[in-house]
Amino acid sequence: MGINGQFLSAIIPAAGSGDRLGASIPKALVVINGKTLIQRAVESILPHVDEIIIAAPKEFEREISALFTDNKKIKVISGGEVRSKSVAAALSQVNKNADYILVHDAARCFSTQAQTMRVIGALLAGDDAVVPGIEVVDTIKVIDSKSFAESTPSRSTLRAVQTPQGFSAQILHRAHQSGNDATDDAALVEALGIAVRVVPGEPNAHKVTTPADLEWAKRLAETNE
Ligand code: CTP
Ligand code: MG
Repeated sequence: MGINGQFLSAIIPAAGSGDRLGASIPKALVVINGKTLIQRAVESILPHVDEIIIAAPKEFEREISALFTDNKKIKVISGGEVRSKSVAAALSQVNKNADYILVHDAARCFSTQAQTMRVIGALLAGDDAVVPGIEVVDTIKVIDSKSFAESTPSRSTLRAVQTPQGFSAQILHRAHQSGNDATDDAALVEALGIAVRVVPGEPNAHKVTTPADLEWAKRLAETNE
């Protein structure tokens, strides 16, 4: 059992095709300085959890399993059509005794173990839902359907949120019962009226989405590794 006798599980949705990146292979298998995005995402979590369920792109399950053959903590399953479906598919395979579940995007390949520990720390201190977030530098507008600005939220009240996001197991299961799609799991938990704690995130936990992000990630890896 993991930290403080609690069973910690993690889900890594990695089943996206990476349309905006435009590579010829699924994004999770793109290599940065000798290591795939999915391997990097796993490394930031593995030492701190009891199991990891990876949702792989259809037809790439074996390729992803082959990256982790030596690791009994890791299980690879087939993902779904949208992110929430991939998370839900992985959730159905999580150990029934799990106390807490982390959900971490494969595309956030430079999120650190320290980030994982900040999220776990807040869970163990009593929060039911925890997300890392960073201050935003741009002014953000809410727009209407015709692209006219509707309002300007005060920047001090805004956070750009990242992963890993952490939840009490029972709450994440409840959140996914709705079957709704959302760009992050915390949104489904908020919809239940449950408080979501925001802890400090990391600029480098940025999600690799576009070709420019990939260039950034390659430069960062070459500089630091
Ligand atoms: N994801 C998933 N299943 C899907 C779609 C996305 O598991 N059907 C995962 C991605 O693999 C990624 C994370 O959710 O790790 C965040 O999604 P995103 O960055 O949007 O990745 P893609 O959906 O692959 O990229 P795009 O939207 O550009 O196609
Ligand atoms: Mg996507």
